[in-house]
Amino acid sequence: MTENTADTSRVVLLGLGDMGTAFARAWLAAGHPVTVWNRTASRAEPLAAEGADVAADPAAAVAAGRLVVTCLLDDASVGSVLEGVDLAGKDVVDVTTSTPGEARARAEWAAARGARFVSGGIMAVPPMVGVPESGGYTFYSGSAEAFAEHEKALSVPTGARFQGGDPGLAALLDVALLSAMDGMFAGFTHAFALARRSEVPPARVAELLEGWLAAMLPAAGEFAARLESGDFTTGVVSNLAMQAHGEKTLLRTAEEAGVSTELLLPYGDLMVRHVAAGGGDEDGAALVDRLLKDPA
Ligand SMILES: NC(=O)c1ccc[n+]([C@@H]2O[C@H](COP(=O)([O-])OP(=O)(O)OC[C@H]3O[C@@H](n4cnc5c(N)ncnc54)[C@H](OP(=O)(O)O)[C@@H]3O)[C@@H](O)[C@H]2O)c1
Repeated sequence: MTENTADTSRVVLLGLGDMGTAFARAWLAAGHPVTVWNRTASRAEPLAAEGADVAADPAAAVAAGRLVVTCLLDDASVGSVLEGVDLAGKDVVDVTTSTPGEARARAEWAAARGARFVSGGIMAVPPMVGVPESGGYTFYSGSAEAFAEHEKALSVPTGARFQGGDPGLAALLDVALLSAMDGMFAGFTHAFALARRSEVPPARVAELLEGWLAAMLPAAGEFAARLESGDFTTGVVSNLAMQAHGEKTLLRTAEEAGVSTELLLPYGDLMVRHVAAGGGDEDGAALVDRLLKDPA
């Protein structure tokens, strides 16, 4: 059994922020030898006490093993940390949040240095890492061979979902889901502010929000069906003319309450533009193509 196919192969991990530290602890708990490096050396100390080997610099860390995981702030920090490091024969798995373009460019950069490259997008927060029942997972894409070789190790911190050979795809899906989460948090923020003005207890708002948004979630599947069929008008339950008009009530309510409308306006404006373009009888799924047609 070679080091790289064993369940307990060595993992080299560069970056010990909140997420990197959680990944390191998961691998240590699963019995993997782990070599770590972090720019601020003190962040490695607790992990050293838990059994990690601490490297003095990125080059020494990378020399310790074949699987090299980077979990850094952004793609630029990945470039600066690995600059000048010998990556020949290494498998670089970058779970740093990046744009798809950055991930593709980083894959070419790694290939030019003789490394296989897999990009990752983590769909978990640190407390979910190493907790299989949390449902946390990481999208991976890029070198299928490198992923297959390290799949067992990569499945330790979170579930591992390989998305194919395009190194940009993991980042694309990661950012798409994060963008949807942005919208949800924008909605939370506005709803809590509105309720706070009227002294509705936050816990009551939370309970109502969880139920309402869970009831609305199947709309994602309805969006998908309409986007696949191209039919935005058959069986529409809440057409955009009605929704755009209703949005005015949302805005007036915010104004009455003295709550900023800034989080509501972008989506409302998009609906108004689509209705003005003749899409009033269509379902909200039609806004997807409006966003592609005429970016504001
Ligand atoms: N935390 C989350 O909830 C979460 C969830 C999903 C994905 N992610 C992604 O995981 C990655 C790491 O997140 P995190 O929560 O661990 O972030 P973090 O706690 O802010 O840690 C950032 C890490 O990057 C290092 N770093 C930053 N700039 C650097 C540079 N120029 N050169 C060398 N090292 C540099 C930091 O080193 P120092 O210790 O020296 O500052 C630290 O190790 C990010 O891409 C993030 O988007 C995080």
